[in-house]
Amino acid sequence: MAPNDDRRSFLFWISSAALTGSGLISAFSNFVFMKPRATYGQPTRFAIGRPDDFPPGSRVALEARRVCIVREGNKLAAISTTCTHLGCSVGVSETGFACPCHGSRYDQDGTVTGGPAPRALPWYAVTLAPNGDLEIDTAVEIDPGSYLTL
Ligand code: FES
Repeated sequence: MAPNDDRRSFLFWISSAALTGSGLISAFSNFVFMKPRATYGQPTRFAIGRPDDFPPGSRVALEARRVCIVREGNKLAAISTTCTHLGCSVGVSETGFACPCHGSRYDQDGTVTGGPAPRALPWYAVTLAPNGDLEIDTAVEIDPGSYLTL
């Protein structure tokens, strides 16, 4: 075998390996690029437990869900705890709700009673699922004062 044949064989082998490698890397990159990376956030509809978890007369803030469950007798409602000013999480107070950020105040029904909040806290639809769980849908706002009767 002549030295030129060895050289040609080596160059053929090395260029084939480089071409194959770059093809594999390109295919892998395209696969990674096509895979969706979107996140869609929390679902708007979620279960919060059984009606018995919320005794009559209670106002329970579910901070992770940013909603307050209000139970009066056999009626139950879900009021948003996201301040309508700039979106801080409002706390439950004796008179209703209070925002720690800029001092907005709301009454027990979420109506603005002071501060810069431009509108009342929204009420969300509450339903009783067939399995007995209460479900809230934060995509569905209802008229304030519209309770679910248990
Ligand atoms: S965010 Fe609540 S008062 Fe500004």
